Amino acid sequence: MQTATARRTVGDTPAGGSVLGFYAPKGTPRPPRVARAEGVFLWDEDGRRYLDATSGAVVTNIGHGNPAVLQAMQAQARKVTFAYPRFFESEDSIALADRVCALAGPGLDRAFFVSGGSEANESALKLARQYAVVSGQPGRWKVISRNPSYHGATLGALTVTGDASAHALYGPMLRAQPKVAAPLSYRVPDGHSVESFEAACAQALEDTIVREGADSVLAFILEPIGGLSTGAVVSSPAYFRAVREICDRHGVLLVFDEIMSGAGRTGRFLAAHHWPDARPDLVTLAKGLAAGYTPLGAVLAPERIVDAVAASGGFVHGHTYFTNPLSCAVANAVLDEVVRQDLVARAQAAGAYLKDRLHALAARSPLVGDVRGLGLLGAIELVADKASRRALPVDFNAPARLTEHGLRHGIALYNRRANRGEFGDFQMITPPLTASDAELDLLVALLERALADLHDEVRGRGLA
Ligand SMILES: Cc1ncc(COP(=O)(O)O)c(C=O)c1O
Repeated sequence: MQTATARRTVGDTPAGGSVLGFYAPKGTPRPPRVARAEGVFLWDEDGRRYLDATSGAVVTNIGHGNPAVLQAMQAQARKVTFAYPRFFESEDSIALADRVCALAGPGLDRAFFVSGGSEANESALKLARQYAVVSGQPGRWKVISRNPSYHGATLGALTVTGDASAHALYGPMLRAQPKVAAPLSYRVPDGHSVESFEAACAQALEDTIVREGADSVLAFILEPIGGLSTGAVVSSPAYFRAVREICDRHGVLLVFDEIMSGAGRTGRFLAAHHWPDARPDLVTLAKGLAAGYTPLGAVLAPERIVDAVAASGGFVHGHTYFTNPLSCAVANAVLDEVVRQDLVARAQAAGAYLKDRLHALAARSPLVGDVRGLGLLGAIELVADKASRRALPVDFNAPARLTEHGLRHGIALYNRRANRGEFGDFQMITPPLTASDAELDLLVALLERALADLHDEVRGRGLA
């Protein structure tokens, strides 16, 4: 029987229609249409169930359809959905700021809420720049970032994103910022160990600051644990210590993009908490903060920066939907669930459980070359040959093929190709923090079926 989902293709209506019309040529089959979601599962309109193995785009930390959050959403909507924060304050936005700052800990004293990750990074970099200007350092404007990295899709965030293919396209519209290599753990350059490459990456930061002129460098931004840019690479305490010392030596602000790693996913509220010496000056959050129940991002900043900017006439920046009362109320309800279910601790325990099972899967699968990550921010790396670590051909786009096989087996796997696969092919494994051990076992079983199909395809095409 042909299902409704199978009949639909991109461009099959004269106007409007699927957003995939922007991404895929006419005639491409459209994905299943979601009908409902609950816990770690989504169902399409044909009643097929999919395990959400990546929390969508690493978003749905507390799972789908949480009744307490839905109730809080409805209650807030009845009270007020929009009030511009410069005219009216809202109780929930203040409660959320108090709470997020308390969870983030000393040094991150104030919170500025926006609608998502790219906006959060834009806001953090503009706050840093305005602080430099008002504190007598107007020559500081350069923001060093890492390659590879991902900091968002807007033009400002793209200036610091380390993705050569995005820069090849949009480069003429941007003022690209200096890049240094990001430490990797599976594909280090010839002649390096993981440790020596990390040390070289830290040294490259200092060399770049000196070369650019320390008085011109405003900030260094990094993902403390890579997302889709590196596939959950975790660096050592020594790297974070070195980065902090270098930034201190040169008066450079250290910005942690915790849009994917924050809000508890790695087994701490912030990934920065894993490395007490890291002490970022600014932190950005999004994704898990409101866990997909509403669009929300945040910048966390120290009082000294916020006070200096405010005293100078105020932050020259804002968005219509910043500090939106409905979004803040929903995020408070999400955080209530994080606390009530002790999900930060659960992320740590579940992460260890899942990692063991993924290592066992890697031992069985000819395609899984590496398993890495922290807490439930994990990834597997897909290779053609495990002994040599040879990657699959870039044009094959192994993560996209795995996603397609996964859908047939009832597992939803988000992937977004960073750097056109230049740094390898990885698949994030980032289920909701609410996943039970039995659901994690099911995830691994379904993933193994999708990997077996991928392996058949790889062999059939003579790629391994
Ligand atoms: C590390 C990181 N920074 C920034 C962003 C951009 O966030 P958004 O897509 O909400 O704008 C993302 C999104 O994937 C991300 O993973």
